[in-house]
Amino acid sequence: MADEQRAHVNYMLHCQGCHLPEAEGFANKVPPMKDFVGYFLHSQEGREFLIRVPGVAHSALNDEELTELLNWVVQTFSAKQLPDDFRPFTKEEIAKLRDLPELDPEHTRAIILADIASKLPKLAAELR
Ligand code: HEC
Repeated sequence: MADEQRAHVNYMLHCQGCHLPEAEGFANKVPPMKDFVGYFLHSQEGREFLIRVPGVAHSALNDEELTELLNWVVQTFSAKQLPDDFRPFTKEEIAKLRDLPELDPEHTRAIILADIASKLPKLAAELR
C-alpha cells in the first residue's frame, strides 16, 4: 500500500540532500524536479530513465518503498506536467529497471527531452 507520509520521510532521508526540500535542485548540478519531472512520463524511454538514474536505481530503499517514493515524487512536485493517461509506476517495473542503471545520464537525458519536446510544444517552449 502506498503511504504518503513514509514516501515523504524517505524523500527527506534519501533524496533531499541533493534535490532539496521542494525538489528545486542546484543550478548546473542537480536538475530541478519541481514543475518538470512529470514531462519524462510522456515517453516510455523517459519513464524508464526516471528509474534508471543512479540516485534512484542505486538507492538503499527496497523495490516497494522506491515505487511508492517515485510515484509520490512525480505527483507531489510535478502533477501538472504529467500526461493525462499517467499510470503509476509498478513494483515490477521498478525491480526490473533499477538493475539496468543509466551509465551516461546527462547524455541520455538530453536525447530523451529533445524527443519529448518534438511532440510536446509546452516542453519545447521551456527548453528554449
Ligand atoms: C548524490 C546526489 C543525489 C541523490 C542522493 C539523489 N539524486 Fe536524483 N539526481 C541527481 C543528479 C545529479 C541527477 C541528474 C542525472 C544524473 O546525473 O544522475 C538526478 C536525477 C534524478 C531524476 C531524473 C530527473 C532529471 O531531470 O534528470 C530523478 C527522478 C531523481 N534524480 C530522483 C531521485 C530520488 C527519488 C532520489 C532519492 C531516492 C534521488 N534522486 C537521490 C542527484 C541525486
